Amino acid sequence: MRDLPWPARVYLVAVIGTAAVLLAHSAVVSGSLVRPEDLDVLLVLALLFLVCESMPTLLNVEQFAVSVSFSASLAAVVLIGPEGAALVGLTATLSVRPGLPLVKRLFNGAQFAICGYVAGWVYEGCHGQVGVPQVDAFDDLIGPYAVATAVFVPLNIVLTLTMIRLATRARAMELPLRGMAQFLLSYLGYGTFGLLVAGLWATVQSISAVLVLLPLFVARWAFGQYHAQQRSYDATIAALCQAVETKDYYTRGHCTRVSLASSMIAREIGMGRERVRAIRYAGMLHDVGKLGVPTKVLQKEGPLTEEEFAAIQLHPMRGLEIVRGIGFLDEAYAGIMHHHERHDGTGYPMGLAGDEIPEFAKVIAVADAFDSMTSDRSYRGARPVEVAVEELRKCAGTHFDPVMVAAFIRALEREPWQPPRRVEPPPPDAAGTTIKDHDDPTMPIQVVTGP
Ligand SMILES: [Fe+2]
Repeated sequence: MRDLPWPARVYLVAVIGTAAVLLAHSAVVSGSLVRPEDLDVLLVLALLFLVCESMPTLLNVEQFAVSVSFSASLAAVVLIGPEGAALVGLTATLSVRPGLPLVKRLFNGAQFAICGYVAGWVYEGCHGQVGVPQVDAFDDLIGPYAVATAVFVPLNIVLTLTMIRLATRARAMELPLRGMAQFLLSYLGYGTFGLLVAGLWATVQSISAVLVLLPLFVARWAFGQYHAQQRSYDATIAALCQAVETKDYYTRGHCTRVSLASSMIAREIGMGRERVRAIRYAGMLHDVGKLGVPTKVLQKEGPLTEEEFAAIQLHPMRGLEIVRGIGFLDEAYAGIMHHHERHDGTGYPMGLAGDEIPEFAKVIAVADAFDSMTSDRSYRGARPVEVAVEELRKCAGTHFDPVMVAAFIRALEREPWQPPRRVEPPPPDAAGTTIKDHDDPTMPIQVVTGP
């Protein structure tokens, strides 16, 4: 708790205090929080809440892994009323999450208790009947349940995000409008589990929790598999990337930054999530073919011979050969293969022009040149972002696709670029340095012809 900024501490105490006051008030007014005949329902729902809370489930929005435990609270709203829902939410303090600090447990328990209580109060206010619903009365509880869910979910999100914001002093939870809408929809969708539990209770009692949980855990397992697969993809790409960057001390981090800038352009031109992921991979791997170029050529001082320059020009093809067997890269192949094509047709390896150049390659070409210009190289210091942007503008229509340049400039206005830190001269035992960076549009490689 001492690590928290003071506004977060005040907020934490206020949330815990509010939960305590609500429960104490109910206990005093009603004599007890739950009727003895409802104790078995309370125990089953508390157990259901605890199991779900201990195993956060990934929603279909990448940035969030949330627990669907709140559906147990919502079932409690129907079956045992606001006080019961608050008590069910309070069990979040006991969730089996090793390493979860006590402060977070207390906050989670208190905020779920508040949400459950308020949702229950709203449910009753909408004339929702508390108790095990009979089949012929089920229709009557759908409306009040929907209103209670519509109150519970936003309240839960606001209470949690406020804490995160105060605790981290950052705008870490900003989501694009589309992402937030998707998140809310998913959250509301999971809320229907509570309705199912409550509805089935009249016929199968506590078994209803198992019937609802089973498909949920199957879905959770499937999501888990998917994300484990994504993590292994990322690790594969990162390993390849690192192998490339060991060839040149000055280009460390280049692949990651090209990947980031490519994603910015991709999102700006409206690519879907799957294509943005593919272009992120392409950005990471665009220069993997440098593994197939002799190091002495990459690090040679002075002009290159025609053969040496041809070896450099071959790196996009070499890159394609290296990654061809990696099935999940899909469209990324085209980005790797053609990232040195130029809009006017004077690039390599194929000399494609304009619309012949694959979209991924057009995006990476801009990102690649931009990062090269804004990073230190052995032969020059990093250029300021404004200078690099001006260079991109100057080369739009000749070297680069003007649409991609314009998109990147728009993206930079919204998301300022963080150039890499200044690179100190390499230590004596470091890998060599490239004398001329083939990505730098302001310093073309010099080639000597003839003997
Ligand atoms: Fe390259």
